Amino acid sequence: APTTAPRSADDVNPRDFLQKMKAGNKRLVIFYGSQTGTAEEYAIRIAKEAKAKFGLTSLVCDPEEHDFENLDSLPEGSAAIFVMASYGEGEPTDNAVTLLSNLRDDSFDFSQGSHALSGLKYVIFGLGNRTYEHYNLVARQTDEALQAASATRIGERGEGDDDKSMEEDYLEWKDGMWEAFSKALDVEEGQGGDSADFAVTELSGHPEEKVYLGELSARALTKTKGIHDVKNPYAAPIAVTRELFQQGGARNCTHVEFNIEGSGMTYQHGDHVGVWPTNAEVEVTRLLLALGLYDKKDQVIGIESLDPALAKVPFPVPTTYATVFRHYIDISCLSSRQILNSFSKYAPNPQAEASLKELGSNKDKYAEVVAAGCLKIGEVLQFAAGNDITAAPTPENTSVWSIPFDAIVSAIPRLQPRYYSISSSPKLHPNTIHVTCVTLKYNSEGEKVPQRAVFGVGSNFLLSIKHAINNETIGFTDNGLPIVPTYTIDGPRGAYRAETILKAPVHVRRSTFRLPTNPKSPVIMIGPGTGVAPFRGFIQERVALARRTIEKNGPDALADWGRLTLFYGCRKSTEDFLYAEEWPQYQEELKGKFTMHNAFSREKFRPDGSKIYVQDLIWDDRENIADGILNGKGYVYICGDAKNMSKAVEDTLAKILGEAKGGSAEVEGAAELKMLKERSRLLLDVWS
Ligand code: 2AM
Repeated sequence: APTTAPRSADDVNPRDFLQKMKAGNKRLVIFYGSQTGTAEEYAIRIAKEAKAKFGLTSLVCDPEEHDFENLDSLPEGSAAIFVMASYGEGEPTDNAVTLLSNLRDDSFDFSQGSHALSGLKYVIFGLGNRTYEHYNLVARQTDEALQAASATRIGERGEGDDDKSMEEDYLEWKDGMWEAFSKALDVEEGQGGDSADFAVTELSGHPEEKVYLGELSARALTKTKGIHDVKNPYAAPIAVTRELFQQGGARNCTHVEFNIEGSGMTYQHGDHVGVWPTNAEVEVTRLLLALGLYDKKDQVIGIESLDPALAKVPFPVPTTYATVFRHYIDISCLSSRQILNSFSKYAPNPQAEASLKELGSNKDKYAEVVAAGCLKIGEVLQFAAGNDITAAPTPENTSVWSIPFDAIVSAIPRLQPRYYSISSSPKLHPNTIHVTCVTLKYNSEGEKVPQRAVFGVGSNFLLSIKHAINNETIGFTDNGLPIVPTYTIDGPRGAYRAETILKAPVHVRRSTFRLPTNPKSPVIMIGPGTGVAPFRGFIQERVALARRTIEKNGPDALADWGRLTLFYGCRKSTEDFLYAEEWPQYQEELKGKFTMHNAFSREKFRPDGSKIYVQDLIWDDRENIADGILNGKGYVYICGDAKNMSKAVEDTLAKILGEAKGGSAEVEGAAELKMLKERSRLLLDVWS
């Protein structure tokens, strides 16, 4: 039966989105399938645009927290909006698993007793990544299931490519969608307004120990115990950190060990660890100056949501202006054109206003200036105002924009954790989680903006921790910019510094990238560069097992174990060979069961001078590989670069298996790979 409007807010069933819509007078419900927060951001963005354009308010829902029976009972003049990310190899995000399976399951009855959604009007936008095989599969499946249940789509299905063009894909899709939306719901543009989401207040006399200065969960200050997860990361002391490249300097690779002793956290080999980075101090300063907040950077502020259903305050409060920029929001990402447009009206002068407006509205200008020049938000503001972005930011060289702080909080997304493949095994290292992270640093491009070095936030955060712990001097360029973004260690408290111990907030994300339980199965691991990280964990896992087995059954106990073969690649044996000193010891302990093949791509070449990569070594070893997979029922693991390496490796495997089966790579080889994937005997942990 259709739900009746509840009498008071207390009567609302928290899992019933329809009751909540009615209680809040909302005509739109937006479900987001989100893993890292991007889809959620787009959901909120769509909600805000519906409000600004048509004055319609939305209920933005985490599908995991709601039931879907009432999807067939949305009142006239309402619509459902689905913002669905595809994760990994085309899987739904954890929070959308039930939603998708309910929609696709014909035997799932909605509240009117059938699987029909005939009256339902819906909008759909998908987030995917073209690097992976099943582009936007989840959005497509959702769309198909809704159509099959006779729901009516409003406009086209939107699809964004997270690899290259998410923002542009969204912008290109949304105008047509809103046009169709206005017809479908019979609403007119111009009924909304540019209203604030948050109220910011400067607080005085607030007790110092109750101010959040980098703690990531509201539990942190009250010291409430709880499971450590993505919503409640653990501030882990750094146990060890060191440089892994033999000739540090131009390129860096940081080895970090997070101490998790006493945290209640556990991990498995092959899991990922989410690390919550801190923004570079130079960017924090730049933005504080550009917003005229530098002099009161440590002012305690409270932030309240004016519509908690639409916009939650995205970080713990009360806090300070500087903390928000340092720890809570992503001031290093590229600002969208929409943000630039909306900030232009707060310019210090008409030229700056015109300049920012042009960057926001002209797609080509945006591409050649903001995108190619890698301008972060503080730099865009400086650039548009004609300030010198290559100089260290000071009050003298930075124009002040009067952007309200609540607009900043609404527009700039929350700083997200960076995920790394754990490079240790809990069997050898129960109290520490190891990370192996190459430092991202590249030059900006184009002619319009002075070329500068651009630093990856997460990897430079880890490198800076190493500098800070080892009291290494951080270099400065001639014009005073830090060579490595400085990491703040002099804050009054912060999650990252307790007495003299540096800490970083972390949580573990479970993975299915695991060794077979039976050590008799042959294992083939392919991991060039930092792709070797999880395999160090795999090998440690087997070393621990070997020790126990030998202790119990004597020195020959590993005789019936399957081969463990690792294909590793780096530039030179003397330069970037990761953990070079550890492998011989593992080989010793694994009694000849562990073989390593190395491709030193800038050291050893073919006679014609061309490079040798891991896929070439795999081809050379094809007899063993085919034997291990086909006869030994072996397992294959690929980790590292998704764009070129993993594709090349898969192609080579297809060739090897196709040939071994007396056929071709395209037919027999491809079929074998497909079967291996389906049986979880070919597993990928790849990134782009
Ligand atoms: P290169 O930098 O000399 O080209 C780790 O980054 C190793 O992976 C390096 O030796 C790098 O070689 C190599 N590499 C680069 N592109 C690759 C590809 N398409 N396939 C396999 N290995 C690759």
